[in-house]
Amino acid sequence: MNKDSALNIAFIGIGLCLLCSAIISLIAIQLRSVQNENVVKDMQKKIVSSAGLELEYGSVENAMMNIKTIVVDLDQGKIVDINPNSYELSKELREEGKYKFLSAENDIASIKKREKYSKVFIEYKDDKINTLILPVRGYGLWGILYGYLAIKSDFNTVAGLEFYEHKETPGLGAEIDNPKWKALWKGKKIYQENGEVSLKVIKGNVLASSDNINYEVDGLSGATLTCNGVTNLIAYWMGSDGFLNFINNLRELDV
Ligand SMILES: Cc1cc2nc3c(=O)[nH]c(=O)nc-3n(C[C@H](O)[C@H](O)[C@H](O)COP(=O)(O)O)c2cc1C
Repeated sequence: MNKDSALNIAFIGIGLCLLCSAIISLIAIQLRSVQNENVVKDMQKKIVSSAGLELEYGSVENAMMNIKTIVVDLDQGKIVDINPNSYELSKELREEGKYKFLSAENDIASIKKREKYSKVFIEYKDDKINTLILPVRGYGLWGILYGYLAIKSDFNTVAGLEFYEHKETPGLGAEIDNPKWKALWKGKKIYQENGEVSLKVIKGNVLASSDNINYEVDGLSGATLTCNGVTNLIAYWMGSDGFLNFINNLRELDV
């Protein structure tokens, strides 16, 4: 066979393409498990840092050893026997019967659908709840902000707030990731004595003389719309359609 024939050149070309794609596929398959591991690790990092626990435990891994993952029925406010490892929010929101559509009136956080079950994280200390880490989400300016709100064992004091996914503009709405801004949340209160959710991001800076100083967080300049989204998602998820039933049950159980 002539080495320089068109047929031979085509044969070698196709052969090389097939070999390269086989090598790339193999590498992709090998890397998939590493990628999945990294996704889990990244999420754990966000969970732990929402509660500011990495310093206390020295590492994310150590902190995770003291954190229990549970699945909660939001309407009942009760823990359900569902394996948290098989839980995925995106799947819950696709499967009929596992979510409800929200009316415009109830959809404070503009999320359209709310899952029936939610995956929650609890940090225990001496067999008692020390921190409750709740998944929250709500529309910002450009898309849904996904994050974790960590609250202390009084179920009213904020331990921290951390977002793990959003589409806000760098330098504007994306300043919700700025450590300085996130630090402002620690110690703020969620519920007034009458049970009303009062925690909110205000426009401008919180005044030292404000009557609501414990319930207010400084706004981000040029990002009022994202900040409103944060206020709305807190109002929704800490209210009766969100985690309030679960929190009330925990309060009754005195755990
Ligand atoms: C390109 C572009 C991107 C913007 N991104 C955001 C954003 O991510 N979040 C936000 O709240 N506002 C964003 N804004 C500004 C809003 O349109 C709006 O002006 C702002 O939220 C008002 O905040 P202020 O009252 O603090 O100025 C953006 C504006 C432009 C032109």
